[in-house]
Amino acid sequence: MERTLVIIKPDGVKRALIGRIIERYEDKNLKISAMKFENATQEILEKHYEEHLGKPFYESLLSFMKSGPVVVMVLYGENAIELVRKINGATDFLKADSGSIRGQYAFCTTENLVHGSDSKDSAEREIHLWFPELKS
Ligand code: PPS
Repeated sequence: MERTLVIIKPDGVKRALIGRIIERYEDKNLKISAMKFENATQEILEKHYEEHLGKPFYESLLSFMKSGPVVVMVLYGENAIELVRKINGATDFLKADSGSIRGQYAFCTTENLVHGSDSKDSAEREIHLWFPELKS
């Protein structure tokens, strides 16, 4: 069993896709163990995206992530990290499988609906960042 952090980004919330996105994960037997709806702060986003500091898309990414509320959740299940990334689809919406969330709904790379942790280390770091009250 593995756990991972998923964020439904402001575009997913604004476009009323929360239910349809969560259904994709639940359909693949991933379970929700924590979830919240909130406006992400500059501080948490700087920590979350620290590895991308200095990249050309960094400022627009942070400003997009502050443009409205997000849904943040911890999902768990077998191969949760890889499974979520497959369900989400490639970062570049043009390369995302048509059956993935991004492949079906995204038409822009920055506003790409969802985030999923990319490794076990990132998952644990991100879960502690967004849900400091949860145990390891
Ligand atoms: S990289 O450059 O290979 O590390 O990019 P990647 O790990 O795929 O994505 C980094 C996060 O930045 C978001 N983002 C973009 N990436 C690439 N290009 C553009 N223009 C861009 N805009 C935003 C991308 O969605 C990743 O964030 P998360 O939250 O993980 O989806």
